[in-house]
Amino acid sequence: MYYIGVDLGTSAVKLLLMREDGKIEKVVSKEYPLYFPHPGWSEQNPEDWWNAVQEGLGELTKDCDKSQVAGISFGGQMHGLVILDKDDQVIRPAILWNDGRTQEETDYLNNEIGKDKLSAYTANIAFTGFTAPKLLWVKNKEPENFARIEKIMLPKDYIAYKLTGSFCTDVSDASGMLLFDVQHKCWSREMLAICGIKQTQLATIYESYETVGTLKPEVAKTFGFSQTVKVAAGAGDNAAAAIGTGTVGDGMCNISLGTSGTIFISSKNFGVDQNNALHSFAHADGKYHLMGCMLSAASCNKWWMEDVLQTSAFTAEQTAITEDKLGNNHVYFLPYLMGERSPHNDANARGTFIGMTMDTTRADLYQAVLEGVAFAIRDSFEVAKSLGIDIKASKICGGGAKSPLWKKIFANVLNIRLDVIESEEGPGFGGAILAAVACNEYASVEEAAAKLVKVVDSVEPDQEIAARYEERYRKFVQIYPAVKDLFPRIL
Ligand code: XUL
Repeated sequence: MYYIGVDLGTSAVKLLLMREDGKIEKVVSKEYPLYFPHPGWSEQNPEDWWNAVQEGLGELTKDCDKSQVAGISFGGQMHGLVILDKDDQVIRPAILWNDGRTQEETDYLNNEIGKDKLSAYTANIAFTGFTAPKLLWVKNKEPENFARIEKIMLPKDYIAYKLTGSFCTDVSDASGMLLFDVQHKCWSREMLAICGIKQTQLATIYESYETVGTLKPEVAKTFGFSQTVKVAAGAGDNAAAAIGTGTVGDGMCNISLGTSGTIFISSKNFGVDQNNALHSFAHADGKYHLMGCMLSAASCNKWWMEDVLQTSAFTAEQTAITEDKLGNNHVYFLPYLMGERSPHNDANARGTFIGMTMDTTRADLYQAVLEGVAFAIRDSFEVAKSLGIDIKASKICGGGAKSPLWKKIFANVLNIRLDVIESEEGPGFGGAILAAVACNEYASVEEAAAKLVKVVDSVEPDQEIAARYEERYRKFVQIYPAVKDLFPRIL
């Protein structure tokens, strides 16, 4: 049998065809545009996602025996607000996870409703990228659009809706809406009242590995699939990536270096970080997790290379950063190109280089960009440590994890071992695994992950380099507090 994993990302959708034994037969990627209509805003057209998914599904399965396709599921970019009217038309472009327009609404929720109440209702506080502040923004700034809302969806749920007609979501993705009571896995009546919405506007909630429906007849016909193909609810991309890297059960860690950068810690039990610096979300294995999310990770690398240096010779550019230079760079970079989420929760923060002298080279600046991202992940890693979580090793995945240099920097900045998985396709692989579980190929997500996920390489820290980075990190943490108050003044 075949299972299809759909990773609905920010720059592209990646689709993956997996055999029941975990072998990946094919991967297809389709890009779509990302719009920044104002500085700090970030939007996409849901129709672009759907067109890319359709094109990708056709290409992915064109040479395989289509009658063998049994299930489809997802890892999707989280938090995006997709709103449909009574005729199922998209009302406005989706407002994405890295959009910073809702500072006012976020402040209202955190300061006037109060963080204590938000945390009691949902296990989380408000961040600009979360869905509830965006709903309030539409209510305040586009009341005519707000009045037309019939359905509120997350990005991957729009694709499930197009495929099956089922208005559904899953527990991991719903966790990032700030409308969901994470502990009890149901919509929060209090949050719905605060946002002025009704439960009928929200989807039915499923565990990530549960079936939400089968393909609509016309969809099955288009792709030549059987109508019995099951669609499983799927997960937010980080939870799906965690499944795809075997980060299930208790106390396992995964670092994902995609457009965003996340550190994800699985947990058997529900728990909340008292300061809410880490998100407390449901996991796709039926349990829970804590997560820190930085808004610009691999995108800093892409920005520096493609937009600033105007080259895509990533490997060549990194060869100038030799091992003796690791931990010896005097230049620092704050990677806040889209503001920052964890742990600063500051939509006004901006990218910042500091420490240059006349002998600073192009390689030093690039190194600072790569190190700045690792230091920013370390900020969330430190929060986890302060909660008594002892992380000795982590999986690493995402586009950024393809760079041996960046992996080495991360292993030394965090001073832990990093394990690399055979499949680099974290969320897509996780999505395919969830589909296989929904089709009873495996008894549980844990069992499937244990059988299908294979570690093929590990990067160990070097104690001398790690000691140098320890000193550098102590300096890095002083920069943001020193410049923080400047950011809103220079917008
Ligand atoms: C997680 C988050 C990002 C997006 C990226 O909270 O906002 O990782 O899911 O797709």
